Amino acid sequence: MFPYIGGKAHHVGWLDPLFPNTFDTFVEVFGGAGWVSVKSDKVKRATTRIYNDFNPLLANVYECFRTNPAAVLAKMNATPKSDLALYRQYQRELFGVLDWSTVTLGDVDLAVKYLYLQTQVFAGTPLSLTNVPYFTETKAGGKYPSKYDTLKKKLAHDKITVRLTDITCVEQLDCIDLIKKYDSEDTFFYVDPPYYKMEFYYSKDFPREKHLELADTLANIKGKFALSYYDFDDLKLFYPESKFNWHRQNVYRSAATRSSNTANYKTKSKGTEILIMNYSNPIIVPKTRMRVQEKVNPIFIFN
Ligand SMILES: C[S@@+](CC[C@H](N)C(=O)[O-])C[C@H]1O[C@@H](n2cnc3c(N)ncnc32)[C@H](O)[C@@H]1O
Repeated sequence: MFPYIGGKAHHVGWLDPLFPNTFDTFVEVFGGAGWVSVKSDKVKRATTRIYNDFNPLLANVYECFRTNPAAVLAKMNATPKSDLALYRQYQRELFGVLDWSTVTLGDVDLAVKYLYLQTQVFAGTPLSLTNVPYFTETKAGGKYPSKYDTLKKKLAHDKITVRLTDITCVEQLDCIDLIKKYDSEDTFFYVDPPYYKMEFYYSKDFPREKHLELADTLANIKGKFALSYYDFDDLKLFYPESKFNWHRQNVYRSAATRSSNTANYKTKSKGTEILIMNYSNPIIVPKTRMRVQEKVNPIFIFN
């Protein structure tokens, strides 16, 4: 729904056909900006939809989106964009003063402060007490619209707010507890953990042991899962190809995770995403579709 490091905004098109054709309960285990919950057609058909993120600021945003998107929009409309003093004030409040353990989900003021920051940094880079704003509409000769305005437009759109209010429940649990809580034969988990050796982007530590614990947990569930990763040496150990179904997809990396050297833009930005599933592919992805997916418009760098 908004720019976020590791966000799957541009991936749902190839992910969705690889999801199981039917499931009763959908669980987005590492919700982040919630792109799969909001964009996937198959998720739309589920009876129960769960969004989860361990980060209380994100879980709070989604609880507000779910329960009262109109209130979020009204508050955003009343908050002027691209105001450096306001940016700094919210940054200090959320990353200096606020005790995150006291956050009660459904706090619209807090959600808007978070969104104010997250939509006005470069390409959804991680927020901190020190990161600098990137007011898009003042860069590149005003070529790109403000992401803050883009989010407001989305929240004014019925098709999108229905997807948000259709979320059954927002959780703020550790991934392992969440998977155990919702596991059943009719559950489908979409699992998009902090990528290996890139965990520092997020608020919670996700060391090697946690990746292993996740693999152990997923190997023993009753439900289905699809797990996103970039490849790394241990991945085949965690999820042997003899036991799980691997799909490889060529993609462009998001701007925040690659070099900003524009001369090397194309070569530097390509990568392969892996989707690991514990079920058979519901379809074979046609080659033409993969090529279309690879031709990502350069505007992608600001999403
Ligand atoms: C790669 S991002 C997910 C991006 C998301 N798929 C999207 O489209 O925006 C990983 C998310 O996992 C969350 N996270 C980190 N450790 C977690 C844990 N132990 N349990 C649940 N969520 C966790 C982070 O806060 C972060 O938002």
